[in-house]
Amino acid sequence: MLKKDLNSSQPVVEAFVKNKRILLIIGGGIAAYKCLDLIRRLRERGAGVRVVMTRAAQEFITPLSVSALTNDRVFSDLFDLDDEREIGHIRLSREADAIIVAPATSDLIAKMAGGHANDLATSVLLASDKAPLLAPAMNPHMWLNKATQRNVEQLKADGIAFVGPETGEMAERGEAGPGRLVETAELIAALETMPGMSAGGPAASGPLSGRHVIVTSGPTHEPIDPVRYIANRSSGKQGHAIAAAAARAGARVTLISGPVSLPDPRDVETWHVETAAEMQAAVAGALPADIAVFCAAVADWRVAEQGGQKIKKEKGAPPPALNLVANPDILRTVATLKTGRPRLVVGFAAETENVLAHAQAKLAAKGCDLIVANDVSAAKGVMGGDRNSVHLVTREGHIDWPEMSKEDVAAKLVDEFVRRFSESAFSMTDKAKRAMKSDKPRHKKKKVRKS
Ligand code: PMT
Repeated sequence: MLKKDLNSSQPVVEAFVKNKRILLIIGGGIAAYKCLDLIRRLRERGAGVRVVMTRAAQEFITPLSVSALTNDRVFSDLFDLDDEREIGHIRLSREADAIIVAPATSDLIAKMAGGHANDLATSVLLASDKAPLLAPAMNPHMWLNKATQRNVEQLKADGIAFVGPETGEMAERGEAGPGRLVETAELIAALETMPGMSAGGPAASGPLSGRHVIVTSGPTHEPIDPVRYIANRSSGKQGHAIAAAAARAGARVTLISGPVSLPDPRDVETWHVETAAEMQAAVAGALPADIAVFCAAVADWRVAEQGGQKIKKEKGAPPPALNLVANPDILRTVATLKTGRPRLVVGFAAETENVLAHAQAKLAAKGCDLIVANDVSAAKGVMGGDRNSVHLVTREGHIDWPEMSKEDVAAKLVDEFVRRFSESAFSMTDKAKRAMKSDKPRHKKKKVRKS
C-alpha cells in the first residue's frame, strides 16, 4: 500500500505496484511532461513501465526522455513491422497488469468511445483484455463540451475508470476550470483500484508475477473407434507439478492437460483435452505467453480414419490394419512462431536410449530454448512414477540433475525460468537498446473444455 513519500527519491519497498507491469499510453497534451515524473515514481516502486506515445505526444516530450526513464524503447508506430513481429499491439496490452492513459485527451477519449483503432495507442486500447485507467487533461471548454462529456459517459458506462481532471489554473494564460491532469500521487493511488493491481491472489507476488506460463501435461488419446484409443503411460504428474510450481512463483498459469486422474492444481486455470489436435488448438487459444512448457506426451500419430462405430471382430478375418498419420508437432509450431513466440519455449525429450544425444537433436529440430531430457525406460519407472532424473539441455551444453521427486524437478525448473527472466520487469532487447541510442522518431511512411 502506498499513499506517502511520493516526492521522496527513496525507493518505497512495499508498494502495491512492485513487480507490476504498467503500460502507459501518453496522449498529446501539455500535461504529457507530468508523465516523466509518473514513470520515475512507478519505477522507484519496482514497477516495469512500458510506454506507447501518440504522434501528438511526441510534440510535447521526446521518446528519448521516456526511454531513458523506462529503460525500454518507446512504441509509437502501428505499422512498425519489427514491433509486430517482436511485440505486436496485442502483446503490448496483454503483457501489462494495468494500462494508464495520461493525459487522456479529448481526441483519445472520442476515439475510444467510438471504437476507433487508427494508430498504435487506439489499437492497443481496443485490443486490450483489460480496462484502462484514464487521466484526462485538456482545456476546460474542451472538457465541458457536450461531445466530450457524452464520450466520457459512454466510456464510464463501458466500465472504464477515470481519475480527474482537477480544477485549477491551466497552462494557457487566463484559462481556469476543470481540465488539469491529477497529481502523480493521486494517479498512483487510483491505480491501486485497478483489477490487475490487487494485492493477494496467486499473481500478486512472486518472481513470476505478471508472467503468463502455458504448460502441457499428460498423454493424449487418439481414438480408433468410439471405444478404443491409442495412448501412452504419462500420468501428468510432472507437467502438473510444473504448473503448480509456476503458480506458486506468482505466474498466471494455463495448464492444458490430456486425460489424467489428477486433480487440477490450485491457482491454475486447467483446460482438459483428449487428442493432440485439441491440445494444439488449446495452446493456440492460450497464447500469448511469456513461457511455454511442453511436458505432455503427445501421440506422434493418430488413426487416419477413425471408425464411427465399434470395429467388429469378424470370425476368421485378419485384424484390422490401422492407417496412421502424423499429428501436429505442437512444440515445434510454437517454438518457430514468427509472431507471438513466447520468450522461453521449453520442450521435454522422453527417450529410452542415447538420452542426451537424442535430446540435443530434438533441441535443434524443434527450435526450442531448453530441453528437459528424461529416460523413460520401463526400468526407471519415470512415466507414471513419482520421481525423475533429468538433464537440462541447451545449445551451450547440458546440466545433469540428480534423481529427485517430480515436485523438486518442477521447483528447480521454475527457479531456472526466474533466473532467465530476472534482469528487469520489461527487459530490453538489443534492438531496443540500439533504437534508444539513436532515438530516432520512428515515423515510417509508408473442442476444448474449460474447467
Ligand atoms: O506424465 P508423467 O507420468 O509424470 O511422466 C512425465 C513424462 C515422462 C511424460 C515427461 O517428463 C516427458 O518426458 N514428457 C515429454 C513426452 C514426450 O512426448 O516426449 P517426446 O520426446 O516424444 O517429444 C518431444 C517434445 O515434443 C515434448 O516436449 C512433447 O511435448 C512435444 N511434442 C511431441 C509430439 C507432438 N506431436 N507435439 C509435441 O508438442
